[in-house]
Amino acid sequence: MEIIQVKDYQEMSKKASEIIEGKINLIDKPVLGLATGSSPEGMYECLIDKYKKGEISFQNTTTFNLDEYIDLSKDNSNSYYYYMHDKLFNHIDIKSINVHLLKGMARDLREEALRYERMIRDAGGIDLQVLGIGVNGHIGFNEPGTKFTNRTGVVELNELTRQANLRHFQSLDQVPTHAITMGIETIMDSKEILLLAFGKEKSRAVKGMIHGDVDEHLPASVLQKHQKVTIIADEAALSNV
Ligand code: GLP
Repeated sequence: MEIIQVKDYQEMSKKASEIIEGKINLIDKPVLGLATGSSPEGMYECLIDKYKKGEISFQNTTTFNLDEYIDLSKDNSNSYYYYMHDKLFNHIDIKSINVHLLKGMARDLREEALRYERMIRDAGGIDLQVLGIGVNGHIGFNEPGTKFTNRTGVVELNELTRQANLRHFQSLDQVPTHAITMGIETIMDSKEILLLAFGKEKSRAVKGMIHGDVDEHLPASVLQKHQKVTIIADEAALSNV
């Protein structure tokens, strides 16, 4: 694992966007795995900036998002479909046919998960997967206790995660109880991983991810077994390391 300590959110966002830019310029048809949440938001802003300045084009880029809530429609501002279009896709030259998100409203969610896995395979796999980390060490929506052998599928969100995500909703009963997410094994298949962690509340999870036992109780600890992981984190997130 390579750990890059940054002084603030802006530096984290800038460094992350430079890593993505490097990939896009290096590979003919780059395949990116993307994440939602507050951690990558600034990175998306930097990427839009680079696109507007003509430094980067997404014409040949394909994306797969990590996860989606079950039962939130695309136009619900809390859906990850909405987030991604609002924060990135609507502002760059990516082809909509190359944008992939799990459909949390699909009638057959098992089939949806299989379809997603197939599409990732057909695209040649993910070159670079961006991740955030939950306060409980989850990646995507793979909660503590999830099998490391899980592939894309439906999961139940635990209370800590629902509480953490409550800030985006009006009340706890509006926070979905289930999500569909790439599995740990799907994430581990990515050729490279870039994880962003910001703030004191992530410090316990970050410590476990880097130094803890590789154990299903802390999903992000599995990343110790990946061949190429870069973690960009601020001093507070690294304060227990
Ligand atoms: C959600 C997402 C995760 C994300 C996590 C942390 O639960 N499903 O993919 O990493 O939140 O979010 P934040 O970056 O807002 O702390």
